[in-house]
Amino acid sequence: MKKYLLLLLAAAAVLSCRQAAQAPAVQPAEYQSNNPENMQRVRDFLRGAGCYFLATVDGDRPQVRPFGTAEIIEGKLYIQTGHVKNVARQIAANPHVAICAYNGSEWLRINATLVEDDRVEIKKAMLDAYPELRSMYDENDGNTAVYFLKDAKATISAFTHDPVEIDF
Ligand SMILES: Cc1cc2nc3c(=O)[nH]c(=O)nc-3n(C[C@H](O)[C@H](O)[C@H](O)COP(=O)(O)O)c2cc1C
Repeated sequence: MKKYLLLLLAAAAVLSCRQAAQAPAVQPAEYQSNNPENMQRVRDFLRGAGCYFLATVDGDRPQVRPFGTAEIIEGKLYIQTGHVKNVARQIAANPHVAICAYNGSEWLRINATLVEDDRVEIKKAMLDAYPELRSMYDENDGNTAVYFLKDAKATISAFTHDPVEIDF
């Protein structure tokens, strides 16, 4: 009897550990950056540059490609892609990314963790910010993927000033 009780307890412990591991670490609706001014500065830099390069981890290799989407929604800096793309698969396997952009005089580098946000209203807000994407994406198409940058550490550098480090 005691043996069965111990087995039952062990099974319950394993189950609760599994549930804890599966629970999302971050609730997108609740997450807020502690530094919205820095986030705005980075958003403006990315939009001003027009294009940035997003690096992901693909197994043991880096992959990089041009990106353009960057918008602050609900106090978080979001980017957008499609689930069918390799970039989305790589983010799902490893959410740590790096971003680099150059605006003609300064360059910006970011390290961050991407958190996918499945809420339709956020996908809609992102596509509303980029109406030209509506020929390819819709918030209800099952393909649109949006992520916000969490624990972002950014550095703005130039040949004319010391690197400026900002978090958001
Ligand atoms: C200027 C520019 C901006 C782009 N912006 C985005 C973007 O914000 N999101 C996206 O999914 N693809 C964007 N693309 C297209 C991606 O670079 C392209 O689909 C790339 O192949 C995706 O990477 P992958 O092949 O590793 O999945 C952009 C391309 C260019 C040239």
